[in-house]
Amino acid sequence: MQNDIEKILVSEEEIQKRTQELGAELSAEYKDKNPLVVGILKGAIPFLSDLTKAMDVKLEMDFMDVSSYGSAMVSSGEVKILKDLDTNVEGRNILIVEDIIDSGRTLSYIIDMFKYRKAKSIKIVTLLDKPEGRVVPLEADYVGFLVPNEFVVGYGLDFIEHYRNLPYIGVLKPEIYE
Ligand code: PRP
Ligand code: MN
Ligand code: MG
Repeated sequence: MQNDIEKILVSEEEIQKRTQELGAELSAEYKDKNPLVVGILKGAIPFLSDLTKAMDVKLEMDFMDVSSYGSAMVSSGEVKILKDLDTNVEGRNILIVEDIIDSGRTLSYIIDMFKYRKAKSIKIVTLLDKPEGRVVPLEADYVGFLVPNEFVVGYGLDFIEHYRNLPYIGVLKPEIYE
């Protein structure tokens, strides 16, 4: 699997160090707020796992699965809920955890829904932000790393469901997706 990677963009050490920093910031922000940490399946899982272990805060976790219609590499715009939260978000402090924000469509849709459901506060933490991909305006409150407009995999990010278990963020060799 690692043989399919052309270059590493963010190393395992960099991810772990930044995750500890973000965990400390979020611990201060959410002390005594009993946040509902919402992971967006499936990409957010590795980051959510490490990030919440770096948060010394009583918190709850829940998960949502949404899909944008379209091909594996380009998202098409429409968003559909595949698995909703089990938790009522009304009056809750929500921390959404993502692996990457690209067009912004996924989170824009989810945030509108949480506002409609009367969340008390909504913040976003994303490991990666790809600002050049943005189609709808959206800014994360906490960003791990900015990435260029390249197709990246690893640490949650997939290419046709593979490579999520890489401990770093990398770029595939062109022959893999050609
Ligand atoms: C990817 C990624 C984000 C979203 C970002 O998820 O994990 O959730 O796309 O793209 P956007 O900002 O353009 O909406 P994907 O829908 O591929 O599902 P996955 O997490 O299960 O891979
Ligand atoms: Mn995702
Ligand atoms: Mg995906």
